This record gives sequence, C-alpha cells and structure tokens, in this order.
Amino acid sequence: MPVNNPVTGPASGNASAPASDDGHLDISRRRLLGTVGAAGAAGLVIGAAGGAGIASAVSGDDSAPGAGGSPALTSVGATEVAFHGRHQPGITTPLQSRGHLVAFDLAPGAGRKEAAALLRRWSATARTLMAGEAPSGDTGIARDAGPSSLTVTFGFGRTFFDRTGLTARRPTQLDPLPAFSSDAVDPKRSEGDLWVQIGADDALVAFHALRAVQKDAGDAARVRWQMNGFNRSAGATPRPMTARNLMGQVDGTNNPKTTDPDFDRRIFVPADATGAQDWMADGSYAVVRRIRMLLDDWEGLSLEKQERVIGRRKADGAPLSGGSETTPLDLDKRGPDGKLAIPDNAHARISAPEQNGGAAMLRRPFSFHDGIGADGTPDAGLLFVCWQADPLRGFVPVQRKLDRGDALSAFIRHESSGLFAAPGGAAEGEYVGQRLLEG
Ligand code: HEM
Repeated sequence: MPVNNPVTGPASGNASAPASDDGHLDISRRRLLGTVGAAGAAGLVIGAAGGAGIASAVSGDDSAPGAGGSPALTSVGATEVAFHGRHQPGITTPLQSRGHLVAFDLAPGAGRKEAAALLRRWSATARTLMAGEAPSGDTGIARDAGPSSLTVTFGFGRTFFDRTGLTARRPTQLDPLPAFSSDAVDPKRSEGDLWVQIGADDALVAFHALRAVQKDAGDAARVRWQMNGFNRSAGATPRPMTARNLMGQVDGTNNPKTTDPDFDRRIFVPADATGAQDWMADGSYAVVRRIRMLLDDWEGLSLEKQERVIGRRKADGAPLSGGSETTPLDLDKRGPDGKLAIPDNAHARISAPEQNGGAAMLRRPFSFHDGIGADGTPDAGLLFVCWQADPLRGFVPVQRKLDRGDALSAFIRHESSGLFAAPGGAAEGEYVGQRLLEG
C-alpha cells in the first residue's frame, strides 16, 4: 500500500511493516477476537486475514467476520498505530491523508489539577480510538471504519506553564520564536496552552477523533484555533511515493530518516534529559506554521523558473544538479554557462543542513484549503509541522536563513505560528504529560 512516509523516504514507506525497530513507527495489526467497546456501542471487530493485510470489519455484535456479507476492511482501514511507546505517535508515523490541528486554552479558573484530569481523559480517548474501539457514549461517526492509522499527539505551549503554576519546569526550548521579517502572523490563530495533532487515513475517523477530543475538553479548556489539512490518500499512487504539496512539488525527500545514525539526537529530547526538561525525555518540539501559498503568482511562473525556485525538478523531485530524487544535492555543480545548477537562492540549497551548521528537522505537514480568501485567491497552502529535539538547532536557524533570501518567499506567507513541547510517549497505565503534571 503506497504511503507517504516523511521518515523512511520515497521507496520504503509501507504501513504494513514497522519502519524502525525501536518502536518509532510502531504500527501493528491487532487480531481482535470479539466485539470491543462498551455493550451497545459500535464496537469494531477487526480480524486479520491470514497476514495478508486484509481484515473484515463487523459493526454491531451479532455477526462474525466475513459473515453476513460484511464488507472487507481494506488495509487502509485496518492499519493501527500504537498509542503507548517511547515516543508519542504522529511524529515518525507515515503522513496520513487527513489531519486536524487544534489548540486549546485552559478555561479561566482551570489549573494544574484540571489540566492533569484533562490529559488523563485525552490519553484514554486517544488510546481507545487509535485501537479502533468506540468510547462509551460514542457519536458513531467512525462506525464501520477501522483505526485507519489514527494518531493523536499532545503538546504544551509556553503559556500553559504560567496557568498551571509550573513556570519553573518550562524548558528554555519553549522561549518565543524570534520574529521573522516575512511573518504576517495572526496571534488569534497562533500558539495556545495545549495543542493536539490528529492524523488518520480516513476523513470520518479523523473528524471523529477531533469531536471526541473537543468534548473531552469539557469545562477545562476551550478551542483557541483549529486547522484542517490533507495529504494524498494512501493507495493513490502505483507505488509508495513522496508527498506532493499544493505547488505541485515533491515535498519531503530530504527529511532525516529514522535509519540515520543521528536521527534520534536531532528529533527527540534525550532519554536522560535533566533540569527543566526532565519531563520531556523522549519528547520532541513541534513548530507549527500555517503557510499560505500565493498560488496565482506561483502558477504564473514557467516550469523552469518554478524548478529554479526550489532547486529540484518538479516532475520527479530530482536535484537540478542531476540524478534522481534521492541523489544528494551537488551544491557546487555548475552548468555549461558557468552558473550554479542549484541557484544561490534556491529553497533546497538554503534550507540544507550543510548550509545551516547541521540544523535539521523532521517536516511532517498537511496541505490546507479553506476556500477563496477576501482577495479572491485560494486560501490554501501548507500546515507546516516540523519536529526537532531543540527549535534552536532545527527550525529557527533555517527559517532565519530562508527569511533572508529564499526564492520561495515571494510565493508564500506565514500566517500563524505555534511552538509546542510534546512529551515522550505514555507507558502502559500512564497518560501523556503525567511526568510533568504529577512529577
Ligand atoms: C509553503 C512553504 C514551503 C514549501 C512549499 C516547501 C517546499 C520544499 C520542497 C519542495 C523541498 C525539496 C524536497 C525536500 O527535500 O523535501 C523542501 C526542502 C526543505 N525545506 Fe521546505 N518548503 C516550505 C517551507 C519550509 C520551511 C518554513 C522550512 C523550515 C524553516 C523548510 C525547510 C526545508 C528543509 C530543511 C528542506 C530539506 C533541504 C535539504 O536538506 O535538501 N521548508 N521544501
């Protein structure tokens, strides 16, 4: 099944096999031999069919898998990502075709106790839904569908710590991002006390999780902003391929890979983190930017100019210095005319780790399209989400450099910004953030 995998790269992303041996991409198929969920709820029965990756789903409790003409769940629906693990899900998980990003502020009067109860509720809900089970009192929105690679990831914003009396435990990594000259950031759609990232390979499964998370918030927290995104559907391409964005570019090729020796060091906070970061062991920092694409301007450029803006061919993502998509960029190569094959201001050149003291991040975006804006142009672009062990060794130096001279800048606008600390994954019996809230 073709999967757009930001981590393992173009050829190897396949959700039917774990992509790493340390639980980063902990995707499993569970053989559930009975109706799950509370009695009367829309429990899903998922039966793996002989390891072939095909399972049948039975909603209700009176039919056996495969009986009664129940339609088979495709491998898209059957794929399950583990909630518990060293790292939270949704970081190294292959890109899903649907995404919701939602930020909450704690309600007036809510503090550490209410926040802890909320994270406990959220974690229980995430675990249940990611297993393809229905929580009690369920809305039924995802009835008949399998877990569909659902992931729910939780993060804490800078302001959370003052609200909960935990200021002393706020890591410096959550210091505000510097202002960039090209920013046109709307504070109302930025930051937030808490952040939840939802991804799934089915739109209803993703929306179902979003509703559940919003309902769980109860009186403790209120939605501050919400953004909805998408990626190419699993199965849309004849083989696993890197994602494309709404500018039509192959996007994600040069992401760090879980197989890189320095992957963990770049993306995750060390397991033995100390001081104000102790509770962030095995966690990661997410920078979230809603980046509007000025598509009318972009589409007015010739193909040759579009390719020079990025430094890669549009059709297959190969560097302009030659080779195929996965060939390393040759930043020194010159054409017969003596000019650099990958221009000085090409996005891929400016953002490359070797141009930024090794700074790297794991980009895991969703595209967005919110109709036509007041100016008559598409309100569309990239919900840019990138993960790193420290924003000062990831997003910040790269964006500083891009801000000064990226050819892509003329065609994009950063409209909102958020920085969130996503703690390590919850162990069995634990909830996400417990080490901060009860430590
Ligand atoms: C709408 C905005 C953006 C678009 C359309 C875009 C598009 C692309 C494309 C097409 C590539 C080449 C293929 C690849 O390696 O993935 C790329 C590479 C990259 N981009 Fe962006 N990008 C955007 C924003 C950003 C931002 C805000 C950052 C970080 C501050 C960033 C960091 C990078 C990095 C680190 C690479 C890999 C460079 C390398 O190692 O070769 N991008 N981007």
